[in-house]
Amino acid sequence: VATIPKFPGYLSRRGRFEPKDPSAALPTALPSGLVLDLTVTQPERAQLSCLGPQWLSGLPSAPYDADPRGLGSARGALARYLSPRAAVSAEQLLLTASTSEAYAYLLLLLCDPGDSILVPTPGYPLLDDLAQLCGVRLLRYRLRYDGAWFMDTTSLPDRAQMLAQRVRFVVAISPHNPTGHVMSGAELRALLALGVPLVVDEVFEPYVLKRYETDLDPLVLGNEAPLVLTLSGLSKSAGAPGLKLGWLCAQGGQASAFLSELEYVSDAFLSVNQLVAQGLPQILTQVSAIQARIRARLMLNADLVSEVFFGSAVTVLPLRAGWSIVLRLPDVLAEETWLQLFAAAGVSVQAGRLFDLPLSSSVVVSALTVPDMLQAGLEKIRAVVDAETAT
Ligand SMILES: Cc1ncc(COP(=O)(O)O)c(C=O)c1O
Repeated sequence: VATIPKFPGYLSRRGRFEPKDPSAALPTALPSGLVLDLTVTQPERAQLSCLGPQWLSGLPSAPYDADPRGLGSARGALARYLSPRAAVSAEQLLLTASTSEAYAYLLLLLCDPGDSILVPTPGYPLLDDLAQLCGVRLLRYRLRYDGAWFMDTTSLPDRAQMLAQRVRFVVAISPHNPTGHVMSGAELRALLALGVPLVVDEVFEPYVLKRYETDLDPLVLGNEAPLVLTLSGLSKSAGAPGLKLGWLCAQGGQASAFLSELEYVSDAFLSVNQLVAQGLPQILTQVSAIQARIRARLMLNADLVSEVFFGSAVTVLPLRAGWSIVLRLPDVLAEETWLQLFAAAGVSVQAGRLFDLPLSSSVVVSALTVPDMLQAGLEKIRAVVDAETAT
C-alpha cells in the first residue's frame, strides 16, 4: 500500500505557502501601549461611518434565484448606478463575491495552466497569488515615476513576445494602488492595441481627486473596443469589504459571447449571497454619501501629510487618487533600515517593496487613517528622518 507523503509533501505547487514578508519589523508600542498604525485601509476601522443597516430592512422574502449572472434586479440597479458614466445595461453585468473572485473567474475562463497575463508593476500583490493559484504566470509592464506616474510604453511586449509568452489578457489598475496613477486614454488604448482582452480594475474609481482632459473612462472605451472587462465592487465603492459583492462589466463586440462562456464558470460557484444582491438597490442609494465622506478624509489627510513634511527630506508623492500616500525617503539609509527605525518609534507603515515601487526607499501610509493618528505617526517619521539627515 502506497503511503501518503507527510505534510506538506502532498500540497500542490500552486500557492506559495510561505509568509509574505517574514522580515517585516514589528512596531514597538509607545509607552502608552499604543502603536501608531498608518496601515488601516478599512473605512470603518478608520472611524469613517459607512453603510447604515437600512438596506437589511424590507428585503423581500423571495425564493432563491440561481442566476449565474446574479440577481436581475441587482444588475439593473447597478446598470443605473454606472449609467451616468456610459451606457451600460444589466445584460452586460455579472455579479461576483468580490473583485478578487472576478479576477479568478477570468483566469479560469481565459487561461490554460502555463499561460500568462500582462500586469503592471508596481502592482496589486494579491494578483500574484490569484494567478499562481490558477497556474498562470505574470508578465509585467512598468509604471514609472518622474514627478508624476506614467506607463512606460517601452516596457510593453511586442506581438511576437505576446504570442511566445501566451499572454491571454492585459490588466490595467486604474486608479492604481498605491500610486494613485489614473491611466490616460492614450495609455489604455496602447494596452488595447496589444490585441488581447483588456481588464480594468477600477475599484478606486470613486476616489479620483484630480481628473484631466486626457483621462478616458474605461466604460466609454469599452463601448468602442472588441472586449473590455471592468471590475469593481462594494469593498471600496461602499467601503464595505464584508458585504462581499463585486461585479464585472463586459463591453465591446465580443462581450455577449464572452458573458455566455463566463456563466459556465460562475454557475459552478454561485457564490453571491442572495441577501446582499437583494439589498443592492438600497445599498447603492447610500454610496454617494459614503464616497463623499471618504473623499473628504482623503483630502484632509493629503494636506496634513504635505504640511508635516514641508521642508524635510521626505518627498510626498502627490495623491491623485486612491487610499494610499507614498512617501519617498532619502537615500542615506536602506528602506529596511528606515522601516526598523519607524517601527522602533512605534509607527507601523507598509514597505514600498511590498508593491515593488520603483523608488530606492519608500513607504506607503493609508490616506484613510484617523487624522490625529496620522499626524502623530508622521511627526515621528519626520523626527526620525530629520535626525538621520541633520548635517
Ligand atoms: C487594486 C485592487 N483591486 C482589488 C482589490 C480587492 O477588491 P475586493 O475586496 O472587491 O476583492 C483591492 C483591495 O485592496 C485593490 O487594491
